[in-house]
Amino acid sequence: MKTVTNGHLQFVITNTQNNVKFQLDLFTLEENSLRMKINELEPIRKRYEVQNVIVNEPKLVSVTTSKLDVNQLEGHFGKTCRFILVSNPFRLDLFTNENVFVVSVNSKQLFNFEHYRKKQSSDGETPLHDEDGMWEETYKTHTDSKPHGPSSIGIDINFVNFENVYGIPEHADSFSLKSTHDTDPYRLFNVDVFEYDIQNPMALYGSIPYMLAHNEQTSVGFFWLNAAEGWIDITNNKLSTKNLFSTIKNFFGTTKVENELPEITTHWMFESGIFDGFFFLGPTPRDVFRQYGLITGTTPLPPLWAIAYHQCRWNYNDEDDIKNVNAGFEHHMIPMDVLWLDIEHTNGKRYFTWDTGKFPNPEKMQQDIALYGRKMVTISDPHIKKDDNYHIYADAKLKQYFVKSKDGSDYEGWCWPGSSMWLDYFNPEIFDWYASRYSYQHYKGSTSTLFLWNDMNEPSVFNGPEVTFPKDVVHYGDLENRDVHNIYGMLQHMATFKGLLDRSEGRERPFILTRSFFAGSQRTAAVWTGDNAAQWSHLKMVVPMLLSLSVTGIGLVGADVGGFFKNPDPKLIVRWYQAASFQPFFREHAHIDTARREPWLFGDDNTRLIRQAIETRYTYLPYWYTLFYKQEKQALPPMLPLWAVFPHDTQTFKKDDSFMIGNSLLVYPITDADVTEVSIYFPGNNTIWYDIRTFIPYNGSETLLITVDMESIPVYQRGGSIIPQRLRKRRSSMLAINDPITLIVTLDKNNEARGELYMDDGHTYDYKKKRQFIYRRFLFKNNELTSSSLNPNGKFDTTAWIERIVIMGYPRNPNKVSINSGEQTAIPLHSYHDKQKVVIIRRPGPSISTDWTLTIS
Ligand code: NOJ
Repeated sequence: MKTVTNGHLQFVITNTQNNVKFQLDLFTLEENSLRMKINELEPIRKRYEVQNVIVNEPKLVSVTTSKLDVNQLEGHFGKTCRFILVSNPFRLDLFTNENVFVVSVNSKQLFNFEHYRKKQSSDGETPLHDEDGMWEETYKTHTDSKPHGPSSIGIDINFVNFENVYGIPEHADSFSLKSTHDTDPYRLFNVDVFEYDIQNPMALYGSIPYMLAHNEQTSVGFFWLNAAEGWIDITNNKLSTKNLFSTIKNFFGTTKVENELPEITTHWMFESGIFDGFFFLGPTPRDVFRQYGLITGTTPLPPLWAIAYHQCRWNYNDEDDIKNVNAGFEHHMIPMDVLWLDIEHTNGKRYFTWDTGKFPNPEKMQQDIALYGRKMVTISDPHIKKDDNYHIYADAKLKQYFVKSKDGSDYEGWCWPGSSMWLDYFNPEIFDWYASRYSYQHYKGSTSTLFLWNDMNEPSVFNGPEVTFPKDVVHYGDLENRDVHNIYGMLQHMATFKGLLDRSEGRERPFILTRSFFAGSQRTAAVWTGDNAAQWSHLKMVVPMLLSLSVTGIGLVGADVGGFFKNPDPKLIVRWYQAASFQPFFREHAHIDTARREPWLFGDDNTRLIRQAIETRYTYLPYWYTLFYKQEKQALPPMLPLWAVFPHDTQTFKKDDSFMIGNSLLVYPITDADVTEVSIYFPGNNTIWYDIRTFIPYNGSETLLITVDMESIPVYQRGGSIIPQRLRKRRSSMLAINDPITLIVTLDKNNEARGELYMDDGHTYDYKKKRQFIYRRFLFKNNELTSSSLNPNGKFDTTAWIERIVIMGYPRNPNKVSINSGEQTAIPLHSYHDKQKVVIIRRPGPSISTDWTLTIS
């Protein structure tokens, strides 16, 4: 062992079969985190280490080491963390929270590291066995030349005393990950899959090699920073405690040590790269979210309109179509914030251009839409049509900006425009050049109310192996796609983000939707789950897919409402709108071959139901926006699994039919046709849940049958919370920014409640640069409701005021309600609804930005 600095230890691992040596670096990090890197000690070719993901170089904390015996080194770090490194055979055990044994690495001895080697030379001097596929592999009509030979790495990461693991998106599968005993492993390889199967570990558009484990006591996370193709096997095991080292046995802390413990063995394999593993030792779910956010960044506060309702289809055909759809929303009085244009708006799929026949005046079109407070989004894919008359192509060709084939020529493949090339964002110069294509000067016809959609960025190559790049294409810096494949899409949307940021000189918050993603994508894009289908089973799959993305840091996530392929029947689309109105990114979208499906095309009654769902979303926007602010600050995703809020409630660990929005709303979307009742689990001992529509209270820790009809969106507010709402009806979110606020107070068993409200201008960075924001805390206690500032440094001018206060679960009709804000005391009107035990206080009046106290006597 060598101590590089306090907090950084170095070791050498030797493969005893061939004597190849590896360097192991152990870093003890702040916030209960530990990083372990393993790389070849003397590689004949430098192995790729992923760039562009880590935001902050993690801070080291000191470690105190001691030898337990000749074979075992113990290290203490942070307040309550420790590791034991066993030298022969190599193994690492991790403990958190006062000695709770949580993770063991390589205890199944699956560690395998294929060092780079020379291919057997003709003179036979480097005789290495050449098994099939090590130096060349054929898939259908494609041959992967594998110029650098075998380079894979595998290791087992074992979650001790856990029965549930989560994360590693993107898969259309359950939230609590399944044993892969009878299936392929979960695969991480960004690909465009036509009509993807559900309940399946197959790879989809994005990859985040990050897994979380949770049990009654502890949450932990393991993130392997690697952008190559990956496979993860999951096995539910029993760990016999008899075989454990005696030193480890002492470390179960409060865990009851039986002869057997549950354990989840995960076996991770990547095709290349290095081992660069981060272990987040929690111990709470919130700690794990924050620990991962510290390394990869958080979702920045989106513009307010980005979390409102979006209307898309492939395609809105021309300027008249856009005008009419907009008019439809007006006519039917349905709020809407963003209209989208898919690939057909361009001149022959040449991005940054317009089909001038159909869109002769794009600037005016955007300005007209902007009059309603609305924005537009256009699509911009990474394939560049091979056409010398297309300025983007001609310029990029001249500058040698395209990804190269293994023979050094520009790589050419097929996508929407036909023959195409792909920009090589790995080159910083190309990255910047691409970003600058989004300036108003270069992107003709774009205005400040136009935002972007990066699709097909896995990338999708119609005639490539598995519909993507061959692994031996070469990127800037002599990088093989094999090593970097899974971050290509992220680089595109990062560059787009830069472009939008630059075009406003850093003033406006960008918005980008991406299909492909990697760890860190949350910093610059929203993600949607790609081409789902108009089927009930796909609607059901949305919650597990969005939860998997949320817990791995991607906060602004959604699925195509109604299903992309096929035509939803009226019931399915209504239920889909209802579900999505409580999911982070809320966008209707459909395939070009589907029937039109604007909200008013399903009959009056269904239009009313869809309108209601969208209006409900707008009502809750102040709450959503506050949650997104917290995501930026604390890396706490707005959409949460039940266990993140009720970590000790074991019944929640496998739940993916319901979810939480923040810690105050429980949502159970209806995902079956023709149901008249649903069975809902209400989490939390001692917790009360109030139906947001009927105000009926339900007790936690119980599964109840709830009667539903087509109006029902089963959503419940947790007793003990306060949620801010805006109840005035507006056509778009930005027009409501100064509207008054209603507070919904739901009392817990101690007659208490608390909540928060964050507000700012909804679109600029002034909240950061000029501290122009309001952040309030509301607290109900001892018959008093107070509003105080959570951050007195923030100031924001607003005419918003408190229009109404609804208190649920209040035991009696108050004699008097008075409100004091500084000098003034007012006596607002109130009413009491005996049956539901609800007090409604009308026009209490104080401004959002002042301190006040409401007293009930
Ligand atoms: C594939 C995307 O997933 C889909 O949403 C889009 O409509 C089509 N590409 C056409 O751009």
